[in-house]
Amino acid sequence: MERPDNLIIVIFGGRGDLAMRKIVPALYALYNENLMPERFAVVATGRTGVTDEAYRKEVRRALAGSEGEKSGTNTDEFVALFHYIDFDTSVTGAYKRLPDFLEMISQKFSIGGNLLFYLSVPPDLYGVIPRNLALQGLNNEGDGWKRMIIEKPFGYDYRSAEKLNRTLLETWNENQIFRIDHYLGKETVQNILVTRFSNGIFEPLWNRNYVHHVEITSSETLGVEMRGSYYEGSGALRDMVQNHLLHLVGFVAMEPPSSIDSTSIRNELVKVFESLRPISSDEVHRTAIRGQYTGAHVRGEWLKGYREEANVDPASMTETFAALKFNIDNWRWGGVPFYLRTGKRLPTRVTEAVIHFKPTPHYLFSGESLCDGCNQLIIRIQPDEGLLLKFGMKIPGAGFKVKNVNMDFHYSDLAAERIPEAYERLLYDCMKGDSTLYTRSDAVMAAWKFLDPIIEAWKNDSSIPVYGYPAGTWGPERADDLIEESELTWRYPCKNLAEDGVYCEL
Ligand code: BG6
Repeated sequence: MERPDNLIIVIFGGRGDLAMRKIVPALYALYNENLMPERFAVVATGRTGVTDEAYRKEVRRALAGSEGEKSGTNTDEFVALFHYIDFDTSVTGAYKRLPDFLEMISQKFSIGGNLLFYLSVPPDLYGVIPRNLALQGLNNEGDGWKRMIIEKPFGYDYRSAEKLNRTLLETWNENQIFRIDHYLGKETVQNILVTRFSNGIFEPLWNRNYVHHVEITSSETLGVEMRGSYYEGSGALRDMVQNHLLHLVGFVAMEPPSSIDSTSIRNELVKVFESLRPISSDEVHRTAIRGQYTGAHVRGEWLKGYREEANVDPASMTETFAALKFNIDNWRWGGVPFYLRTGKRLPTRVTEAVIHFKPTPHYLFSGESLCDGCNQLIIRIQPDEGLLLKFGMKIPGAGFKVKNVNMDFHYSDLAAERIPEAYERLLYDCMKGDSTLYTRSDAVMAAWKFLDPIIEAWKNDSSIPVYGYPAGTWGPERADDLIEESELTWRYPCKNLAEDGVYCEL
């Protein structure tokens, strides 16, 4: 793969958790793979004054134990490319120093004018920083490209996202704005497109004629950890569904793009979002279930309830679990229900999409039958990444008894190569100017438009319960009723792709 053009990366919030856990290690991995530009530098900003040397020590700590650090001898070289500048990003005057500082770094390393700004800061600064950069002319592409990566959440609802888009587009062009959703950087999410469109056998079945329903789950074992104040203003719907899970829906449901370029893929994604059937406010209580974890003993350890977590209101109504049923109104998916489920403090950490195929029109055999015996294709995003197909086989012996068996492919069998972290792929793409795996403004807006009625109803209608569920369980029982057919349930995935069941080995 080609190396990107020389550039300076400016990380706003350079000492923050995201920068240290994800961004800096991803840059380092790219550096070790020879995928960083020949000449580059990183400028981190933050409010606290630390020297370059002190900051470089923090960077070094963030890399400790990483694969590159263990094997590489070039950590010193890499760390020496980091610089720190302290200023308060909410103060307009502070930005005046930035152009000269960047010019000085550019000259020192003979870099030129390409600049990538990474906004790893609280969302209330997403409008402020770009405007101030523009005031200093740092959006001007005369001497090299200027790009900006914006973290999620992009807006808080439809109106705030629209306002943010408008603010950004006053001074920046859409092709300079890279709205990141790290799920799109996951190899296994991209592999959904490859599975679907590089194989002739799936696509003919991938529609309302053969698919009974689609189920997407993203479960986490962790609680909100130290992010209580962020999460209180977010909840599972905004934190996971608006971005990560709807993108999974988009990849599973989209039409084949005319080519694999950014515009074609993003056009198809938007079409899916625009075809999501709006959920009216009086349907919300039936089709959108919210829950909140309560304290429980899990594997011998007492886990606090959400309301007892740090920086969480003891009477909080914020959901830590959300499950939705909805439809996509287009020819391919007419009449096929989609089910989404996500939550914190569930029994295991799994993200997967399950395509449930329709049963045979007439069932001849005994043994496991009906939808026990329906074929399922499970696309496992994490962990034990891979694909699993469930189908019926004859049990050896007399008669025609059928048993469900698995055919599974594990990503780990594909290559000895490690699966790159999502942020590596996304940072590389942005440096190369490829926006395919970043969210376009119309997609963000369509996603908010779909979720807004749920957000509104959950906020204003106190008759819609926030169901409690004990930590370590699969969320509120009420979520099971979303799947109305009595013989069907959610899949209860285990850590290992080939296993499932409520009581499996976690
Ligand atoms: C983040 C959310 O975007 O995604 C977190 O803010 C969540 O709450 C995380 O834990 C999940 O990401 P992953 O890659 O661990 O599935």
